[in-house]
Amino acid sequence: MANPTLLILAGDGIGPEVMGQVTRIIDWFGDKRGLAFDVEHDLVGGAAYDKHGTPLHDDTMARAMEVDAVLLGAVGGPKYDDLDFSVKPERGLLRLRKEMDLFSNLRPAQCFDALADFSSLKKHLIAGLDIMIVRELTSGVYFGEPRGIFEEGNERVGINTQRYTESEIGRVARSAFELARRRGNKVCSMEKANVMESGILWREVVQKVHDEDYPDVELSHMYADNGAMQLVRAPKQFDVILTDNLFGDILSDCAAMLTGSLGMLPSASLGAPNADGRPKALYEPVHGSAPDITGQGKANPIACILSFAMALRYSFDQGDEATRLEKAIEKVLADGARTADLMGEEGGTPISTSQMGDVILAALDASL
Ligand code: NAD
Ligand code: IPM
Ligand code: MN
Repeated sequence: MANPTLLILAGDGIGPEVMGQVTRIIDWFGDKRGLAFDVEHDLVGGAAYDKHGTPLHDDTMARAMEVDAVLLGAVGGPKYDDLDFSVKPERGLLRLRKEMDLFSNLRPAQCFDALADFSSLKKHLIAGLDIMIVRELTSGVYFGEPRGIFEEGNERVGINTQRYTESEIGRVARSAFELARRRGNKVCSMEKANVMESGILWREVVQKVHDEDYPDVELSHMYADNGAMQLVRAPKQFDVILTDNLFGDILSDCAAMLTGSLGMLPSASLGAPNADGRPKALYEPVHGSAPDITGQGKANPIACILSFAMALRYSFDQGDEATRLEKAIEKVLADGARTADLMGEEGGTPISTSQMGDVILAALDASL
């Protein structure tokens, strides 16, 4: 059988630095576990703009539609701040999400025991934390029309539109309920039905999908602002959080920090299953291109490596190998391996991006 195909789009800033460690891990699974992938590399974001004048070339888009999974590093950076909005690096990522129809964005926030002291919250609040945020990714205010900056009388007005159809809400709700059944069996849906009509519809549809097809899952609803507060007050009350595109963006950064660092949080963006049963899929860390630390060997590669673990689990049906990789990361953290972002108040000497790759590979070797 042909090897599964992976398209790697390392992107900008620390994207190529963290992805460099992921490719070593991919090679390890090929050499040591007989899990060989056909890997292709291409450009996205500012890197694609520099070469092609667009943040995502049509040929790259076409390949993304064909491969079994896409791995993305990060896009953006100050060099591109003044570009026209239509060619900004972020547009390349948004086009991938939209055209691949990756409506369900899984953003887990898990606290590794070794980092429990490092969270900005008290240890007992986050020890053992295991939340999954399911963020709608292809609609809402990120994509709704009308949008733009328009002249209105003697001033300008900036417009974005929050828009959700019943089917868009229904399909992401289903993915959250399906996931909950394989975890703690609880979904908390977050919107602002108190002030937004799209929130009223969201709540209605989520409740209906639940009552018709997932009555066994415990469902609650919460206003998103209260949800943000609850996330930092008592995060362990949550299992799966289901929310829209913009609230999900913000709540997942917040959840990331509970676990110690943005450099720890992976994500999977999944679409509808193809003919072979595999969903269209893109895997990426939640963090961005981190211009403040680019090129210094300081970036934590764990979020990107954990994103590959999610690919093993969700695209390639290799849950055991995904767990092997996650355990290897748990082990190196328990042994005290820390990149600069994980140093905490007690200080110490951080290791570099590639040294973190080294110790994870050693832990993988030790797992055999
Ligand atoms: P950011 O996530 O790039 O950085 C926020 C902070 O977290 C910085 O201090 C950074 O050094 C730190 N950080 C992030 N990832 C880290 C890692 N792996 N290891 C250690 N520290 C890490 O967010 P930002 O500064 O708001 O955005 C910078 C650029 O990235 C912008 O152009 C933004 O649009 C883009 N961005 C891209 C993505 C993506 O590609 N998915 C996501 C978020 C932001
Ligand atoms: C993320 C990022 C993106 C978003 C940007 C870079 C388009 O913040 O993946 O969380 O807003 O979705
Ligand atoms: Mn974000």
